[in-house]
Amino acid sequence: MGGLNCGVTLALLGVLLRGAALLPRRAEAAEIALPPGSDITISIKPGTSTLARPCYILTSKTPTIMLSIKSGEKKTFSFMCQNPENYFVIEIHKNIDCMSGRCPFGEVQLQPPTSALPTLNRTFIWDVQAHKSIGLELQFSMPRLRQIGPGESCPDGVTHSISGRIDAAMVKIGTFCSNGTVSRIKMQERVKMALHLPWFHNRNVSGFSIANRSSIKRLCIIESVFEGEGSATLMSANYPDGFPEDELMTWQFVIPPHLRASVSFLHFNVSNCEKKEERVEYYIPGSTTNPEVFKLADKQPGNMAGNFNLSLQGCDQDAQNPGILRLKFQVLVQHPQNESYITYTVDLSNERATTLTIEPRPVKLSRKFVPGCFVCLESRACSTNLTLTPGSKHKISFLCDDLTRLWMNAKQTISCMDHRSCHRKSYFLQVPRDILQLPVQLHDFSWKLLVPKDKLSLALVPAEKLQQDTRERICNTSFSYLMASSSSSPGQDLYFGYFCSGGSIEQIRVKQNMSVTLRTFAPSFQQEVSKQGLTVSFIPHFKEEGVFTVTPDTKSKVYLRTPNWERGLPSLNSVSWNISVPNDQVACLTFVKEQTGLVCQTGRAFMIIQDQRTQAEEVFILEEKLPKPTFHHHNFWVNVSNCSPVNGKQLNLLFQVSLTPRTIDLPVLLTAVVGGGAFLLFALGLIIFFVKKNRKKKKNKGLAVGIYNGNVNTQLPMQPKKLQKVRKDSESHVYADIDDTIVYGHLLLDSNGSFVQPEVDTYRPFQGPREDCPPSPPPTCSRARTAKLTTEEPPPGSSAESESEPYTFSHPNQGNESNRDTDIPLLDAHEPAESVE
Ligand SMILES: *[C@@H]1O[C@H](CO)[C@@H](O)[C@H](O)[C@H]1NC(C)=O
Ligand SMILES: *[C@@H]1O[C@H](CO)[C@@H](O)[C@H](O)[C@H]1NC(C)=O
Ligand SMILES: *[C@@H]1O[C@H](CO)[C@@H](O)[C@H](O)[C@H]1NC(C)=O
Ligand SMILES: *[C@@H]1O[C@H](CO)[C@@H](O)[C@H](O)[C@H]1NC(C)=O
Ligand SMILES: *[C@@H]1O[C@H](CO)[C@@H](O)[C@H](O)[C@H]1NC(C)=O
Ligand SMILES: *[C@@H]1O[C@H](CO)[C@@H](O)[C@H](O)[C@H]1NC(C)=O
Ligand SMILES: *[C@@H]1O[C@H](CO)[C@@H](O)[C@H](O)[C@H]1NC(C)=O
Ligand SMILES: *[C@@H]1O[C@H](CO)[C@@H](O)[C@H](O)[C@H]1NC(C)=O
Ligand SMILES: *[C@@H]1O[C@H](CO)[C@@H](O)[C@H](O)[C@H]1NC(C)=O
Ligand SMILES: *[C@@H]1O[C@H](CO)[C@@H](O)[C@H](O)[C@H]1NC(C)=O
Ligand SMILES: *[C@@H]1O[C@H](CO)[C@@H](O)[C@H](O)[C@H]1NC(C)=O
Ligand SMILES: *[C@@H]1O[C@H](CO)[C@@H](O)[C@H](O)[C@H]1NC(C)=O
Repeated sequence: MGGLNCGVTLALLGVLLRGAALLPRRAEAAEIALPPGSDITISIKPGTSTLARPCYILTSKTPTIMLSIKSGEKKTFSFMCQNPENYFVIEIHKNIDCMSGRCPFGEVQLQPPTSALPTLNRTFIWDVQAHKSIGLELQFSMPRLRQIGPGESCPDGVTHSISGRIDAAMVKIGTFCSNGTVSRIKMQERVKMALHLPWFHNRNVSGFSIANRSSIKRLCIIESVFEGEGSATLMSANYPDGFPEDELMTWQFVIPPHLRASVSFLHFNVSNCEKKEERVEYYIPGSTTNPEVFKLADKQPGNMAGNFNLSLQGCDQDAQNPGILRLKFQVLVQHPQNESYITYTVDLSNERATTLTIEPRPVKLSRKFVPGCFVCLESRACSTNLTLTPGSKHKISFLCDDLTRLWMNAKQTISCMDHRSCHRKSYFLQVPRDILQLPVQLHDFSWKLLVPKDKLSLALVPAEKLQQDTRERICNTSFSYLMASSSSSPGQDLYFGYFCSGGSIEQIRVKQNMSVTLRTFAPSFQQEVSKQGLTVSFIPHFKEEGVFTVTPDTKSKVYLRTPNWERGLPSLNSVSWNISVPNDQVACLTFVKEQTGLVCQTGRAFMIIQDQRTQAEEVFILEEKLPKPTFHHHNFWVNVSNCSPVNGKQLNLLFQVSLTPRTIDLPVLLTAVVGGGAFLLFALGLIIFFVKKNRKKKKNKGLAVGIYNGNVNTQLPMQPKKLQKVRKDSESHVYADIDDTIVYGHLLLDSNGSFVQPEVDTYRPFQGPREDCPPSPPPTCSRARTAKLTTEEPPPGSSAESESEPYTFSHPNQGNESNRDTDIPLLDAHEPAESVE
């Protein structure tokens, strides 16, 4: 009669329940009937109470302390005391046998419903048995579960005790209260779930459902879902007793994207392993070395972003002295601790053709634990590698314990495809402020500068004069520009090298398409940010691969080197340096470390040093010994032009320019005069000769080209000598004089690719000692002017000691040099993290 209000449920469940009032307090009679085939057994038995006065159950007029009702039975009973809940408990045991038929999966009902049971502490037990390979999953809808340890109790008295079975042995998975994070428990073959509801609790739903799953291949999997900050304490199966031998248990954690999880082991013991090793393994998003394996005694990972899982693996224990494996641990989920949860806005809506990638800095693979590190777009889509596209505004935030594990690379393309529209136009190349404000190191900002072929060239003017990175003067700034252009040799980029602020290079002109990459080397870039900036302009096309404008200052030496250092200037390429000399100074040009070792296949490689005021030129064949130090009173050109070299015998030229006050000239001249009258006479003769010759040549201007003999190394030029030999010295070095029109190697090739044999002026050079320019030019520093000496030039310095001294070529082995620019094969290639200084 009282059961009618649950009629629907009862009908569905096939449970019939009769009995008046059903609240057998005060000795009222109750009736419980279980339909046949319900697989339910109900027992009413004494509880754990220690009350002195006993109470009895009256059934069939017989007092008893135990009552059992099986499927298909109906029993009427009453209690012989006022508060039976203090004496008795009721246990409702249901077997669910999936072996013999279909399993009733889905939401689990309380049956009989609590309202139909006497008001006693109730324990509903579901005992599910399935095939060995069937995974059984208990899903807990809200509220989720919280595991409690031995001796702990739940505030509302509602507990869930879950256990399984391995062969014949029962395994306790754990006891859980009602408010927590555990959402699913997956087991295999067998699950026993006991829901304990205290008599005063009017809960009428089980709160969980059962589903079948494929094999989980382990003892169990416990899933915890965190909705926000919080913590969970979890324990190994059987805790505080030993974890079953050689078993595997996994915990999965679902963590909101903006939070971090840390694991700490509160208590553990390890057993004595005979085979295998007890360990925990993590799968952590973003880790390159999953699974991350730890010993139980290790410090466990912290500050993990993203969902992760943790497995406990037992071992084969020593049968004599097994010891005990057990683990109690805590997962703490909280907001990232050390980097504020800031959203950054990167506005690329006005940054034409700029893309920004924030990505993991490459690291050497190691077994060391690496927690996840994410960049989030709009705080939602988090990934390890994010590319922001031009034309819009982006809101980003970071989920990363250590932002130094990320870096940024940006690219911008500036192109001019119609030379009429962009001629003389200029752009300022600078890293946008929005990118600089991000808490991640900028690695590269690369500008691709594109111009129409043979129509326009590029001029770059840095905000602060640049220094070329050489071994002799290393860039120690926090950033450098790496410059490269597509050289005229097809498929080969031409690397001008690294340039940093604080030097003497005022302008760099580049013939064609190029890339300029600002690369940072230290976090202090943020402080030096104002030093960046380059103005690029489109200028009329010219022939050299590059033209450098250098204005040295008196304080330091300037080191300059040919592009593509160590790989060699590409064949038939030319480069020029416009080096200015202040009025009151003398510049000493020294070839510091000759790296030439050059052997030409076709053509000649040469260098012309030209005084810009007097137009006096000196020409040096570069396959041979390098020129000695020379002094320059006026702005001068150093123009280098390559031949087509034999493979592996490349042209690499490094030179140094230093300034000294001009007043010192006089003593030097005097020294020279005192040095010997004969020599002075010779020098004068030479000057006169050159002046004459120059005049004569000037008349033939336009046609006069100096071209070189390909066999200079082994024999003297074949052309009639127009110049008197200066000295007898077969070891001496050959200079050639080329008049006004500069001729580059590649222009000398005729249509068959063979070399034209022109008229050549050759003569012996002055042989000075091979020393660097001293602080003030002493007689030892060569004053040789082998071409077009003007009257204001001092005569060639005297020096008998130099007569027989051969040039020495040093070929420093630079194979192990860690010079940055030589190791970067491509602009876009990322160097390994350790190379970032
Ligand atoms: C019923 O459960 C409560 C709490 O769960 C407990 O304190 C009490 O002793 C139990 N009653 C009996 C008779 O076991
Ligand atoms: C459980 O509930 C109590 C009170 O409602 C709350 O203070 C506590 O944080 C909850 N515990 C968990 C693990 O959610
Ligand atoms: C459980 O009780 C709530 C009220 O407490 C009621 O709304 C709900 O229908 C009941 N469910 C069942 C299955 O009896
Ligand atoms: C679950 O059981 C149903 C019916 O017994 C079966 O069709 C299904 O394949 C099972 N699913 C899994 C994952 O075993
Ligand atoms: C378990 O480990 C604790 C330290 O974590 C240690 O104090 C205790 O003696 C160990 N117990 C056993 C039974 O090995
Ligand atoms: C643990 O996580 C990894 C990566 O997400 C996944 O491949 C694996 O199946 C998970 N293992 C368990 C038992 O959840
Ligand atoms: C946060 O940073 C401080 C110092 O900057 C450090 O002492 C602390 O350990 C860090 N905390 C975490 C959780 O990394
Ligand atoms: C990040 O993404 C960009 C663009 O998709 C790709 O070029 C780059 O290699 C990626 N970086 C990493 C570390 O995966
Ligand atoms: C420079 O790049 C543009 C666009 O890619 C191309 O059209 C042009 O031919 C290139 N110029 C040279 C000299 O390679
Ligand atoms: C860089 O090197 C120069 C000398 O080459 C030195 O004067 C300067 O202080 C150095 N700067 C830094 C930041 O180390
Ligand atoms: C050479 O450099 C000087 C000094 O910077 C400059 O005045 C002159 O215009 C430059 N010459 C050329 C041809 O660029
Ligand atoms: C050196 O190169 C510059 C720039 O290309 C050029 O103006 C000058 O005429 C060249 N000088 C000689 C002697 O070739």
